[in-house]
Amino acid sequence: MKASDMAFRIAVCLGLIGMTGGVLMAASHNHDLHPAHAHLNLLGWVSLFLLGGFYRMNPSLDTRRGAKCQVLAWSFGTIVLATGVAAIYAGYPQAEPIAAIGSIIIVASMVWFAYFVFRPEPKPVSPGVMAAAE
Ligand code: HEM
Ligand code: HEM
Repeated sequence: MKASDMAFRIAVCLGLIGMTGGVLMAASHNHDLHPAHAHLNLLGWVSLFLLGGFYRMNPSLDTRRGAKCQVLAWSFGTIVLATGVAAIYAGYPQAEPIAAIGSIIIVASMVWFAYFVFRPEPKPVSPGVMAAAE
């Protein structure tokens, strides 16, 4: 599976979970968990979908294992962060290290993504080289 497909699919799933949380908050008139809802939607739905868009626009990157690992690291970090933040706002301050670990994973995978964005464009393989290789 391409990195973009992976990002789009995970983003839709996290978005559905985040929005369901929003509906439950609205229905229950209890907005205590809104920071977890906000970050699940913003990191897991919006940002992850944007990452997928970047990979889709860069086909040579889209099939690379590094890109897929970056998407998985981002997704994992988002789930850990949202879980930790939800637990903190649900009255368990001891969950702070979980949120901290999640945020470190996300920042690390953002650095990883920045590397892909700033990396020099790979040189296109010329037909002559292809013929020689064949
Ligand atoms: C079915 C969809 C959604 C529902 C029913 C919903 C519901 C809610 C509710 C009830 C709150 C608490 C409001 C408050 O107490 O101030 C909230 C906060 C928030 N939601 Fe959603 N939400 C939905 C989708 C989204 C999406 C898709 C995003 C982001 C892309 C998002 C981002 C936020 C943010 C950033 C906050 C915090 C706002 C603040 O701090 O004032 N929500 N949402
Ligand atoms: C490593 C990633 C991130 C960390 C550790 C982080 C941390 C935080 C913290 C500590 C707050 C204050 C919460 C409070 O006072 O209740 C906050 C609020 C907020 N952040 Fe983030 N954030 C991250 C990424 C993002 C991203 C990528 C976006 C948008 C795309 C975003 C949007 C917001 C918004 C809209 C609020 C205010 C909503 C609220 O009150 O819950 N954050 N964030």
